[in-house]
Amino acid sequence: MRQHVNPLSKNFNEIERIPSLVEIFGDSKLNLHLDIGCAAGEFLFDLALVNTSWNYLGIEIRERLVKTAKLKVLEKDIKNLYFVFGNANNILNNVQSKFILENAKSISFNFPDPWFKKKHYKRRLIQPDFINILSNSLQKGSLIFIKTDVKDLFDYMDCTISSNLYFRNIDIKDFNYSKSFNPNKLKTNREKLVIVNKLDIFESIYIKT
Ligand SMILES: C[S@@+](CC[C@H](N)C(=O)[O-])C[C@H]1O[C@@H](n2cnc3c(N)ncnc32)[C@H](O)[C@@H]1O
Repeated sequence: MRQHVNPLSKNFNEIERIPSLVEIFGDSKLNLHLDIGCAAGEFLFDLALVNTSWNYLGIEIRERLVKTAKLKVLEKDIKNLYFVFGNANNILNNVQSKFILENAKSISFNFPDPWFKKKHYKRRLIQPDFINILSNSLQKGSLIFIKTDVKDLFDYMDCTISSNLYFRNIDIKDFNYSKSFNPNKLKTNREKLVIVNKLDIFESIYIKT
């Protein structure tokens, strides 16, 4: 069991400078997908190689994982993938990184830390204020994907996102993955483990209206 990082620690108040999309990506005009809480980024490495018509940006609070992922991007010379270290809530709430949300076509929250105790709910990634930031900055038509094996966390995230008037739930059965950031429906590491252990997966997709 890994030690969970407290995202509210003041260690994360300082935010790294994020270069412009033109500096980050080989082709900054490609659709941009954000993966929040991407861990070591394996899912994004797979996506970046399989679907080269999208750019991918991962945000992760564990610095060592981000350093290793950044080195791997350089070694493999991947032009459509970038990683940012820090608390995603602080990063995306900061004016200097507003351009990321303004350009994102979709965002995924895959198996976020559940923080089971009620007094720790405020450490959860998805919070009403955070969803307001997303609704204020994302373009119309942008998508949010959530996925977890914790029913209580799913209900909490679903209720928080659905309470925002600008997000509407899409029927997942009608969703055409082949046109999305994940055309081959690749799985994250946590998802593979959940499938092996035959646990339930709860997921939803929302569109910004
Ligand atoms: C349970 S893991 C899931 C990793 C990956 N998404 C997957 O599905 O395999 C949750 C990840 O979110 C990261 N995380 C938690 N809170 C975060 C925050 N506020 N900002 C960025 N990353 C965060 C954790 O460090 C961890 O790597």
